[in-house]
Parts: sequence; structure tokens; C-alpha cells
Amino acid sequence: MTSQRNLVLVGFMGTGKSAVGRILAQRLGREFVDVDTVIETDAARSIPCIFKEEGEDGFRKRERDAVRLVTARSGLVVATGGGVLLDPGNLRDLETSGEIVCLTATPTTVLARVGNDPNRPLLQGGDPLSIIRGLLAKRAPLYASIAWQVPTDGLTADEVADQVLAHFTTHTTAHEQPTPRRIP
Ligand code: S3P
Repeated sequence: MTSQRNLVLVGFMGTGKSAVGRILAQRLGREFVDVDTVIETDAARSIPCIFKEEGEDGFRKRERDAVRLVTARSGLVVATGGGVLLDPGNLRDLETSGEIVCLTATPTTVLARVGNDPNRPLLQGGDPLSIIRGLLAKRAPLYASIAWQVPTDGLTADEVADQVLAHFTTHTTAHEQPTPRRIP
């Protein structure tokens, strides 16, 4: 039996990974797994709470474990947290398990989508736009290392999913190709 490669979404906060991932999973008839949700379920705590009690280092260790668990599986649509590429081991595992697409957005788009969200601990304690710009600048080489990039500015999650799906179905090999279906 051939196992289907995972379809993995990476990208900064507010690029729509979870919303787009959910739509893609529905259309492909696949299971959707959000790495942040795996972390929260395993810790039985929210992400802000993990950051508060264990710091970013504690969160990153949990994220590494969750990526290991998720990438041991196949046939999934996987959404990751915006900092997942900070650990090279995560990139290695994600690349081995599937096709990686990087969703992108400008700092102002990110601000409009998640700037006021209290559930993004890294955006607290300062001017959100400056924080977003700083983090994006630091992480730019990591995101740029992913060959498949999809800009999301001005697009709905459905429209982004259309673009991802068009590329994915033409680039996966015939035996892996799922039958896309539109959910009414
Ligand atoms: C983070 C992004 C968050 C979450 C955590 C850290 C980051 O996920 O994993 O708050 O480092 O960019 P989203 O990208 O889904 O917001």
C-alpha cells in the first residue's frame, strides 16, 4: 500500500494556515491536524498559558515533540505554528513527511488579521506592527527556504485553498493523487 504524503502548511502568524488547512482537508477528504492544537491537547493548557509557565523555550520543546508525532503519520493536511521552522529538525521532518507550502502575507495584512489577538503571546507587550515586522525580518530566510510560496494578501481562505489545491494536484504523482471534492 502506498502512503499519501502529507500536505504541510507553514508561514507566519495570520497567513491563514489553520483556516486554509481545514478547507483543504475537507476538499481532499483528508484528516486535518493543527500542530498548535496537538501541543495544547498534550499539555492540557492553552498556548498563552504554556508561554507564561514554561517560556518560549518550553513551548518550542513541546512543538518539536508534536512535529515528531504528526510527521510519523501520513495522508494528512497539517497546519503548523508560525515559528515551526526555527528548529531545523522540524523542517527536516516536515520535508520528509510531505509537500510543504509556505503561505505569506505583508506585515499590515498580518496586523489586520491577528494584531489584536490575545492568543498570540509573541505579539503582546509592545506595538504589534513593530513586533510583526521584527519577527518577519528575522524569520524571512526560513520562510524563503520553502520553494512553494503562496501570497495570501487580499484573498479569502477559500481562494488561497483553490491555489494550493491547483498546484498540489498537478505536482503529486498519479498514485498519490486524491480526488478533490467541493463541500457545498
Ligand atoms: C508562533 C505562532 C503561533 C503559535 C505560537 C508561536 C510563532 O501559531 O505556534 O504562538 O512563533 O510565530 P500561529 O502561526 O498559528 O499563530
